[in-house]
Amino acid sequence: MRILVTGGAGYIGAHTCLVLAERGHEVVIVDNFSNSSAAVLPRLAHLAGRPFACEEVDLRDRAGMDALFARHAIDAVVHFAALKAVGESCEQPLAYFDNNISGTITLLQAMKQAGVGRLVFSSSATVYGAPDAVPVREDAPLRVTNPYGRTKLVVEQLLADVQASDPGFHVANLRYFNPVGAHPSGLIGEDPSDTPNNLMPYVCQVAAGRRDHLSVFGGDYPTVDGSGVRDYIHVVDLARAHADAIDYLERERQSLTVNLGTGRGISVLELVHAFERASGQAVPYRIVGRRAGDVAEVYADPGQAQALLGWRAEYDVDAMCRDAWNWQSRNPDGYTGTGDAVPDQPPVR
Ligand SMILES: NC(=O)c1ccc[n+]([C@@H]2O[C@H](COP(=O)([O-])OP(=O)(O)OC[C@H]3O[C@@H](n4cnc5c(N)ncnc54)[C@H](O)[C@@H]3O)[C@@H](O)[C@H]2O)c1
Repeated sequence: MRILVTGGAGYIGAHTCLVLAERGHEVVIVDNFSNSSAAVLPRLAHLAGRPFACEEVDLRDRAGMDALFARHAIDAVVHFAALKAVGESCEQPLAYFDNNISGTITLLQAMKQAGVGRLVFSSSATVYGAPDAVPVREDAPLRVTNPYGRTKLVVEQLLADVQASDPGFHVANLRYFNPVGAHPSGLIGEDPSDTPNNLMPYVCQVAAGRRDHLSVFGGDYPTVDGSGVRDYIHVVDLARAHADAIDYLERERQSLTVNLGTGRGISVLELVHAFERASGQAVPYRIVGRRAGDVAEVYADPGQAQALLGWRAEYDVDAMCRDAWNWQSRNPDGYTGTGDAVPDQPPVR
């Protein structure tokens, strides 16, 4: 199939492009590079053994999107392109609604115009807010707590309405828990342009000496060691689920919503210690007060993904830390400064 990957130059998108190419699909990337670098492209080509088509278009540019669909006979879309920082979304809600919701509307209009009826959507466990119980199942109440989360919920609802109106339109809503890690080659990974919002890239930067310590928010939760527990999932496992979702839409011709997590909760301190073992570096940390709105434990029930997609996470926390550190130590400044030279080292799969 020829698959359009929106936001394909970003963190999860790049890993997914690679898996799709490895499964024999043709991939077309569309990205405005607002949170990514074109330097990922030669690295992807190196790993896949062939170049990827990439178009620099903003999803909100309807004429640009129509022209893109006219140039490429697209069979299905994997939709990553979005802004994703919770804190920033509280400061700039309109920018988030515009980019994430208007961008999706324009994409759906262009898909309809081109007669494309299969979409895999990057949703998030953030749609559950603070869940009443763990593990979290897909039928748990949805109650978002910030504008970013609201954009994900609104898009899920929008997609449900489009499905209801069009029997030929099918969507896979994938609710990610906490994606971490990097491709085992160390050639692609997460490259936050600013202070990282998520734990793992922050831990990486502390281990690399770019930051002097990690603040652990809350040491008195009723958990294994008092720190918060989350469900971390290796980005390569996550990427694989997108290819499985494409197969599902093609095979079953119906929609689905699934959680993507390991089903295993890991505490912040467990992750820090696993990272120290994997990297051989110390990760100094300080336990500080809880953050407003944080909950003790959130982890997935991934049973539905296994039942419907035949998918389950394979990498454990040690592999997540090993690959995150491999990426960080080979690319201390991320993609910056590497230009777009194809790296010397052979790909590792
Ligand atoms: N990383 C996480 O922790 C996490 C968790 C749950 C859900 N998600 C969702 O997964 C998706 C991918 O996340 P990521 O971590 O790879 O983020 P990312 O920022 O690395 O990737 C997003 C990509 O989309 C591009 N983009 C953004 N707006 C665009 C627009 N209007 N037009 C074209 N391109 C645009 C960016 O340049 C970037 O390359 C997002 O939808 C995010 O909300 C991420």
